[in-house]
Amino acid sequence: MSSLIVVGSQWGDEGKGKVIDFLAEKADVVVRYSGGNNAGHTVVVGEEEYKLHLIPSGILYGDQICIISAGVVIDPQVLLSEIEYLNKKGISTDNLRIDERAHIIFPYHKSLDVLEEEKRGSEKIGTTKRGIGPCYRDKTERMGIRVCDMLSDTFKAKLERNVSAQNKLIRAVYDNDGFGFDEIYEQYMGYAEQMKKYVSDTSVTVFNAIKEGKKVLFEGAQGTLLDLDYGTYPYVTSSNPVAGGVCTGAGVGPTMINEVVGVVKAYTTRVGKGPFPTELFDADGERLRTVGHEFGTTTGRSRRCGWFDAVIVKYAVRINGLTSMALTKLDVMSGFEKIKICVGYKKGDQIISEFPSNIEDLSKCEPVYEEVDGWNEDITGIDKFEDLPENAKEYVEKLEELCGVKASMVAVGPKRKQTIVRS
Ligand code: GTP
Repeated sequence: MSSLIVVGSQWGDEGKGKVIDFLAEKADVVVRYSGGNNAGHTVVVGEEEYKLHLIPSGILYGDQICIISAGVVIDPQVLLSEIEYLNKKGISTDNLRIDERAHIIFPYHKSLDVLEEEKRGSEKIGTTKRGIGPCYRDKTERMGIRVCDMLSDTFKAKLERNVSAQNKLIRAVYDNDGFGFDEIYEQYMGYAEQMKKYVSDTSVTVFNAIKEGKKVLFEGAQGTLLDLDYGTYPYVTSSNPVAGGVCTGAGVGPTMINEVVGVVKAYTTRVGKGPFPTELFDADGERLRTVGHEFGTTTGRSRRCGWFDAVIVKYAVRINGLTSMALTKLDVMSGFEKIKICVGYKKGDQIISEFPSNIEDLSKCEPVYEEVDGWNEDITGIDKFEDLPENAKEYVEKLEELCGVKASMVAVGPKRKQTIVRS
């Protein structure tokens, strides 16, 4: 690895945290490039479980430079409490760097997120209500406030302008009292003071690191099907978690990236609304949910579960230019007598092999399944691919063949060491 992207290849929650943590051990720099604290990685180190929402999981190692780059939106309150949480656990955050171009989430973003989602009634997107969407909207409206603004003399004027504009909207549309400027200003001046020691132009750090031959790991949040452009729009996030998002999010040119590893769960899950062709409503689905502990790290929401969908992962291979995949949660598949794999979609009398662009088409797609034999053995202690039960190996090889990419890693449990690396 010299520069490598780890990207979610389904609807997020693929177990990227663990894969990133595993790869971060060999990295010099770890970079988060999109989204905000709507994502959440769970990393288990020894007996300790860490939940991180903004800070790259490389921080758990100590030596790595960990970057929150310009493409990320930052809620300072969340960031500072995450720093405190880590410090209390004895983990230093001295190597944390925050990009000066990153946009800041304010209380009015969070309120708007809640109010707008309520107003959608039955058309809810399923946002995490953390102000991420409204913050990205201010960014594209060119009225956002960035980290560098918060540290400059112009902050007061910019915040006054924004609080006034947002209050007009909140009062007119939502019959809500809105926000007082002074309180936010005081609070954020305090945040700025605490954050400033971490702030710099991190695109320079990334560029220099790659030029010097250091190992740079870009850690994705969410997943390909949640991408603003390539996901199941409108049930998507407001940023670009796909591999292409690294270039804009971290300020690095495409020619500087060597590898793209897609994290792929051995089955499929999805949080929130929107069509999901292989979703299971039976005991098999319940089994995936309970054995796989499919409840959100950030929200605690129960995840919808279904069989592996090769149409989706093949799409992720293409959109992200995956060079390999890291297959996670294979252990959760132990104990099924038969396992189904979706190999295509049937829409009317058509068979579709490319992932549809619009959700109306997707909702009309019926999965076409191939069935394979399962295995009963507990595989959580296995560390060599050859030692897996024959049917588990065949399952992995079948997924590789259907998706057109090799599984360079296979995870068989939540711990760091429960990872099979294939040459
Ligand atoms: P997002 O960025 O929100 O998409 O999160 P994520 O992709 O990092 O996934 P998340 O941490 O929410 O969920 C993964 C969960 O699965 C965590 O609790 C991990 O500890 C666990 N996990 C990861 N790999 C494996 C595995 O191979 N087997 C089992 N049983 N659990 C795993």
